[in-house]
Amino acid sequence: MEKITVVRAEHFNAAHRLHNDNWSDEKNKAFFGKCNNPNYHGHNYDLEVMVSGHVDPESGYLIDMKVLSDLIKGEILDCFDHKNLNLDTVEFRDLNPTAENIAFVIYDKLRLKLDQKFDLKIKLYETKRNIVIYPS
Ligand code: NI
Repeated sequence: MEKITVVRAEHFNAAHRLHNDNWSDEKNKAFFGKCNNPNYHGHNYDLEVMVSGHVDPESGYLIDMKVLSDLIKGEILDCFDHKNLNLDTVEFRDLNPTAENIAFVIYDKLRLKLDQKFDLKIKLYETKRNIVIYPS
């Protein structure tokens, strides 16, 4: 049977600061711009979690979307929504919270809990125009 993909769209708000401790303040400011603001700033992140695989012929479902929704809520939204990523989360205590790194972290957290029979892909919108996809 053909493979199919379902997409669950979610949303979270979070604050961050992009900074490389190995660089000077001047270089950080020049490179990361407004995202280097010392007092942090927020983004409205849109998240699309794409799950692919084969439909169960009995249910007609690829995956129960309530199960997927609960998984994303428990693993991602409860951890990151309305949080300061740098200060409030263990994942980004020592990891620069770029959209790329946030996508890696989200993928890893969901991959651990999602049945191995499914393929997983993450699409993260930091803004409407700045989007990362992992795996590429
Ligand atoms: Ni930013």
